[in-house]
Amino acid sequence: MEDWKAFLAERERRQLLRRLVPSSGRAPALAVRDGREYVDFSSNDYLGLSSHPALVAAAREALDRFGVGSGASRLMSGDLAIHHELEDGVAAFKGCEAALVFNSGYQANTGILPALFGRRDAIFADQLCHASQLDGALLSRARLLRFRHNDPEHLERMLVKHRGAFGRALVMTESVFSMDGDLAPLAPLLAACRRHRCLLMVDEAHATGVFGPQGRGCVEAEGLAGQVDLVMGTFSKALGGFGAYLAASRTVIDTLVNTARSFIYSTALPPPVIAADLAALRLCLAGRRAERIYCDGPARFGRRCARRGGPSAARARSSPSSWGRAPSPSPSRRRSRAGDSSRCRCAPRRSPKGRPGSASP
Ligand SMILES: Cc1ncc(COP(=O)(O)O)c(C=O)c1O
Repeated sequence: MEDWKAFLAERERRQLLRRLVPSSGRAPALAVRDGREYVDFSSNDYLGLSSHPALVAAAREALDRFGVGSGASRLMSGDLAIHHELEDGVAAFKGCEAALVFNSGYQANTGILPALFGRRDAIFADQLCHASQLDGALLSRARLLRFRHNDPEHLERMLVKHRGAFGRALVMTESVFSMDGDLAPLAPLLAACRRHRCLLMVDEAHATGVFGPQGRGCVEAEGLAGQVDLVMGTFSKALGGFGAYLAASRTVIDTLVNTARSFIYSTALPPPVIAADLAALRLCLAGRRAERIYCDGPARFGRRCARRGGPSAARARSSPSSWGRAPSPSPSRRRSRAGDSSRCRCAPRRSPKGRPGSASP
């Protein structure tokens, strides 16, 4: 106990203490706190779909039809036809043979990697890969090697040096990096994988819904659909819902159903969540990007920002990443406080990359 108290006090002293700050309500690009509206710089609900009437109606209908919970894991009795409908939709959306839904992006990454890779294998990860990817790699017990951020040449040198010592090998990246908003060089990474007999895994959490035709993501936008071995993504960001998926070959998906512990040993996502995710997918497939943006959210966001001297509407629309990101803790806290007083909600964020194995990135 004393250790933990000392840890918390030290965090406080260094202005690194994490705290929960509840809002009493939210809407696209808005947070409500103490009865006041704030422009929300901190959410991943890039298109405002979390409040879209189509998603809300789909969730409501599923609630009435199936109830609140799914009652069991998918392999017991929690499996519903709509889970499969969603998976078939995701597979088609991502141009892959099959897909599997996971309960969250964190559970996907920490389930997929240990299920497919082990002690004799290697995982080559971009240095800025998300914490869930790194945690998954650690759980797999494969050797984790990290290449410089967005540097395929560094990866190539590492593969030349280390690839031969391992059985299976995976190269892992995000397509849109969550904290920096930059894009991975997917084609050169894929070429390196092919040269060195590696699989490629791309985390499209921040690209899905935003990039590519109909929001299919960066893999599709770069003409690589069907070529990337493991395409992971979430419903919890631009798609406005919750949960995650992996799109891959039928063999990989069937293997995961049999071995991914986060899939096997967890209750299936509630039917209203699955129904809302399906509705979001249909919205994407239905039309142009503008039709996916709910309630003029980003435009309104831009106007509010401009009124308060913030970034322009164009920037608000174009950046899927949080540009309230803090370069260091103290300016972050200052900006956060300034944000509060100017009625812009800009939660201080620290990178979720961190040292692998560290609970406090
Ligand atoms: C790149 C990336 N992967 C995975 C996740 C985890 O997704 P979820 O929030 O659905 O657990 C996140 C979430 O922040 C992310 O940014």
